[in-house]
Amino acid sequence: SKRVGILTAGGDSPGLNAAIRGFGKAAIGYHGMELIGFRDGVTGLVENRTIDLGGSALSGILTVGGTILGTSRDKVHKFPTDEGPVDMVPRVVENYEKNNLDALVMLGGGGTAKNAMRLVKAGLNVIHLPKTIDNDIAETDTSFGFATAMEIATEAIDRVHSTAHSHHRIILTEIMGHRAGWLTLGAGVAGGADIILIPEIPYTVESVAETIRRRTEQGSTFSVVAVAEGARDAEDTADYEAARLLVKNSKDPDARAAARKHLKHVEDNQREHTFKLARELEASTGLEARVTILGYVQRGGSPSAADRELATRIGSAAADLVAEGVSGVMVAARGQGTAPVPLEDVAGRVKLVPTDHDWVAAARKVGTGFGD
Ligand code: F6P
Repeated sequence: SKRVGILTAGGDSPGLNAAIRGFGKAAIGYHGMELIGFRDGVTGLVENRTIDLGGSALSGILTVGGTILGTSRDKVHKFPTDEGPVDMVPRVVENYEKNNLDALVMLGGGGTAKNAMRLVKAGLNVIHLPKTIDNDIAETDTSFGFATAMEIATEAIDRVHSTAHSHHRIILTEIMGHRAGWLTLGAGVAGGADIILIPEIPYTVESVAETIRRRTEQGSTFSVVAVAEGARDAEDTADYEAARLLVKNSKDPDARAAARKHLKHVEDNQREHTFKLARELEASTGLEARVTILGYVQRGGSPSAADRELATRIGSAAADLVAEGVSGVMVAARGQGTAPVPLEDVAGRVKLVPTDHDWVAAARKVGTGFGD
């Protein structure tokens, strides 16, 4: 019978344990395989820290948030050591063989797809399962974690409406998504936010203030603004994009280093941008503004029914692919089913919100402002 390893890597997300259970029960119970878990993402793979997932290890985890295996954000080819980053692909190949594995299943986001592709190139059989609350993984309709985070963020937006209309305030809720605006857009629409600011649509403070002033004229004495972590005003966006292009394309190492330093500076400024926006809106509208950062609450707790179903389906489909000896693919969610997508088509690509996307168009038509 086949022996399979499984790990979870990158940010935690609701549904990870449901996916581990879905894969494990199908692999062990239906396909008669053996399953071991690696702890803490790529770190456990490099350090060969394993846990046997047979017996009752998978019982009772469907509804549990986070990941029973632990996770990390380490990269396999630039693994942090006291002497600096080291390419640990050879060590991983060694541990894969030491554990007599026939395949490795890696749950994670775009970065994990890159790690998976490197291991496939080193000759290992690897399947990637898409995971993130950002829903920013290319080629997959939706990733488990997104539906639950959208529930949590929507409930938060519902709840901050109370203080907004009671105190006649602007309430800005910062929602996760440092590169892609899916979660902020989804929760913003579902929660009826008056303004939704996402990375894909650079905003101007003036346009946001104008929407708020218009609401005041129409008799609404408050506004709720859903702000993505990665939302940026127009100048910062131009600045950020220019630096990103320089880092990506410049041949001159000094220029690249300077651009990278500038990028980090812009990203560090990023962290405060919601508070900065609040102060600017207070100044230009005369209304009090308050900020609520939703943070890690969005990734916590038991997964929603939708995420449990999707995670189970993705995990089970992955067990079939391992049984067939398929390698080098991500199990993408497509409509009500799943489809294997070559890792080359996914690795490292971020699925951004098209600025003319249906969700955006529909929100604009119901009067939502996007600060542009
Ligand atoms: O990638 C998912 C995510 O939750 C992002 O939305 C967020 O910006 C990031 O992870 C936070 O990273 P960390 O958990 O490492 O602080």
